[in-house]
Amino acid sequence: MPAYGIVGAQWGDEGKGKVVDFLAEEADVVVRYSGGSNAGHTVINEKGEFALHLIPSGIFRPHVDAVIGPGVVLDPVVLLGELESLNERGVDTSRLFISDHTHIVMPYHIMLDQLEEQARGNNAIGTTGRGIGPTYVDKVARTGIRLGDLLDETYLASRLENVVAQKNRLLTRVFDADPIDFDALLAQVRSWGNALRPYVASVEHRILDRLARGARVVLEGAQGAMLDLDHGTYPYVTSSSVSIGGACTGLGISPREIVGIIGVFKAYSTRVGAGPMTTELDDEVGHDIRERAWEYGTTTGRPRRVGWFDGLAARYSATINGFTSAVLTRLDVLDGIDPVKICTAYEADGKRIHRFPSEPGLLERATPIWEEMPGWSAPTAGITDISQLPPEASAYVRRIEDVIGCPIDLISTGPRRDESIVVRPIILR
Ligand code: GDP
Ligand code: IMO
Ligand code: MG
Repeated sequence: MPAYGIVGAQWGDEGKGKVVDFLAEEADVVVRYSGGSNAGHTVINEKGEFALHLIPSGIFRPHVDAVIGPGVVLDPVVLLGELESLNERGVDTSRLFISDHTHIVMPYHIMLDQLEEQARGNNAIGTTGRGIGPTYVDKVARTGIRLGDLLDETYLASRLENVVAQKNRLLTRVFDADPIDFDALLAQVRSWGNALRPYVASVEHRILDRLARGARVVLEGAQGAMLDLDHGTYPYVTSSSVSIGGACTGLGISPREIVGIIGVFKAYSTRVGAGPMTTELDDEVGHDIRERAWEYGTTTGRPRRVGWFDGLAARYSATINGFTSAVLTRLDVLDGIDPVKICTAYEADGKRIHRFPSEPGLLERATPIWEEMPGWSAPTAGITDISQLPPEASAYVRRIEDVIGCPIDLISTGPRRDESIVVRPIILR
């Protein structure tokens, strides 16, 4: 019954795609459990370089079932485009299964995401504009359309008619926007239903059956814990449960099935979109890291904000998720930077703060207290054996381990699958 949760531990883009593609060698099933096409997971392996938004990063392993779970919101246009491009590049997608409970991102959700962002003015969240928030709003408001609904044309038409009438009142009267044409939308949604029919499955039963038979199931998270709707830096968060709890609610499995909770951390910090980021670097070092690591969004192409490793946010993330292992990615990006810094406390209102604060406004006022460590001049890029790491890089890894309070079992030294140091095996046979 072993399930392993892979959770983004910071603000997203930690390298979850690379890590899941690597770990999937030992897995039987890989399931995406939350978020939607706001995610962009980069995988580089022998088949090439891929940016996945919805399809689980285990899809490249011929022995793995790739599953999109019910907690995901599904944009059929993005999914069908992704399937086409994978097939064109020789990747077999016949083992993709999608829950009939996934909520569909409709064109009106994408319109509303953009209109609401404009209306927020200076308080804009900096969403990816992919309709994610409005789709989860409809799910909670019980006006969502689910993938299973697309397979019953009569039910779909009656339900969609009512929803579109409501959305058109909102679009025209509140936002002064054009209404949606119901007939055109219905035709489009029906065509999505026909195209996706072969992939639709009752995946909850499938996963539970596989777990009962001893299959190893990897739960692929999206975003990062600091963007979690409940636990992140609200309101600058995404609209789903990013943390490990979301894997249980988003899939319908018991927490008892999860034997490993793996937090993926980048060796420094990045954030896309608005919201507090205490360790942000507005100087040349930040600029240098952004350019050398090409820190630009996989989904939107926006420059990512860059900063040193935030020990308070990382410890908080490790605590709320209960990580059993950590993965440290992009260590190679820090090659040649001297010194390297870790934020181990904040200062605000004349006081030292040692825990990630929850009081409103405190995070915005906090300044970082740095711990400096010597950098390393010998490259770590591409190293696969821990004994080859320069001693200063080893010391940096050990210090991060102390700060987050959890062992680092995998170190990533490059974007390719094999540029990885296995410190201790994470998925046990
Ligand atoms: P995800 O959303 O967590 O899957 O991460 P993204 O794919 O959005 O961003 C991570 C970026 O870092 C991608 O461009 C990866 O190819 C790259 N990457 C992952 N691990 C490493 C690493 O260890 N070193 C370097 N240099 N790049 C990495
Ligand atoms: P992966 O899975 C980084 C951010 C957006 C914005 C906030 C809300 O690739 O790590 P949304 O469109 O979700 O309503 O935007 O969340 N965001 C991400 N940042 N990586 C992601 O996914 C993200 N998904 C959403 O930039 O700040
Ligand atoms: Mg990403």
